[in-house]
Amino acid sequence: MTASRPARLWRRARRGINKRWTRLYNNQVARRLGRVPKATRVPRFFIELTNHCNLRCNMCPRPSLRRELGHMDWELYCDIIDRIGRLGGWYVGLNRFGESLLYPRFVDAVRRAKEVGVNQVVVVTNATLLSEERSSEILDSGLDQLLISLDTLDRATYEANRRGAKLDQVVANVDRIIDMRRQRGAVRPRIILNSVMVQEDIEQIRALFDKYYDQVDKISLKPCARYGEGQDLPFEGVPRKRWRACTQPWERLNIFWNGDATVCCGDLEGELVVGNVRQASMEQLWLGSRRALEIRRLHHHHEFGTLPVCQRCDATNADFFEGAVEQLRRVYGAMGMGDQVVGLRDTTPLVKWPERESKVNRNEGRKPAVEADDLEP
Ligand SMILES: C[S@@+](CC[C@H](N)C(=O)[O-])C[C@H]1O[C@@H](n2cnc3c(N)ncnc32)[C@H](O)[C@@H]1O
Ligand code: SF4
Repeated sequence: MTASRPARLWRRARRGINKRWTRLYNNQVARRLGRVPKATRVPRFFIELTNHCNLRCNMCPRPSLRRELGHMDWELYCDIIDRIGRLGGWYVGLNRFGESLLYPRFVDAVRRAKEVGVNQVVVVTNATLLSEERSSEILDSGLDQLLISLDTLDRATYEANRRGAKLDQVVANVDRIIDMRRQRGAVRPRIILNSVMVQEDIEQIRALFDKYYDQVDKISLKPCARYGEGQDLPFEGVPRKRWRACTQPWERLNIFWNGDATVCCGDLEGELVVGNVRQASMEQLWLGSRRALEIRRLHHHHEFGTLPVCQRCDATNADFFEGAVEQLRRVYGAMGMGDQVVGLRDTTPLVKWPERESKVNRNEGRKPAVEADDLEP
């Protein structure tokens, strides 16, 4: 089911109109009348192809997952992605908690998402399974962004944290896909290093920049967040939280491998599930579900004490946010890029990144240097 060009243009125009209308309503009506702002009509979608993982990383909540493990049925995936396409879905992240390259039809999943007209198809991977054959398939698949989790080039630190991975093998995989993309003269997928600052070691970060700054499209240094209980890292550095509303319930829908849909990226066990895609349309889940509306209301009024997952999360913690932005300024500053730090969204750094000459025209020069749509899942 490939969307025709007029259909794609129409969807894009409709998305633009809806976005402006929602912004107008939220700024002019909801704010003045004290109403809960409306969610964007078409959210960013995140599909958990699998919640199996081949590593046990210290800072990640995935190893303590209690939810049943599984791969998404291929038929269910096709149904979901076709519906997202008809809705005008423009951003699909193909993972949640797990390693998506373990999904047997990962490359088919990317192709199908592109066929239905999704503009940004994105995946985050630990790169352990990025063999030459897999890399070649990925480069041909139409994937828009490949985010690679590589936190450091220090073997001892990397292997102690990313339990189960071998640094040499991962670096070889990363270097090979960069090289293969270069040999093809391709600019897609954009290759972005996603590096969690499990500890702030400027020399290790500098080594990462020295090796990869000119090789990849971006190096995204992520503050280490506390997703909940069950992680190995002590977070004694995080002070008592001052509550802030989270933006996720207004902008992203995460679909677990079994079809359950939740409005939060840190909802490991499904505490904020708003329904199941097998029983409801995307619109019903996103715009009509009572549970979703209630979660937004609670966040809007800073009353989410009844939502344990939100209470535990760093995204609702003003102290974490302010500390994280300071940390970003500090570490990017040490790389000579401190003034390019724009802020933080969820736990993703917003950093202006210089466009590389060969890539300036990939979107007919329409994109600004930094845009929310570019961001990591
Ligand atoms: C949950 S992983 C799933 C994808 C894949 N398994 C991987 O490791 O790339 C998605 C991203 O979250 C990052 N991550 C894990 N724990 C984190 C934490 N406590 N704070 C910030 N990012 C974290 C990972 O490094 C990875 O880049
Ligand atoms: S960060 Fe990725 S690879 Fe590591 S345990 Fe979490 S999901 Fe698995």
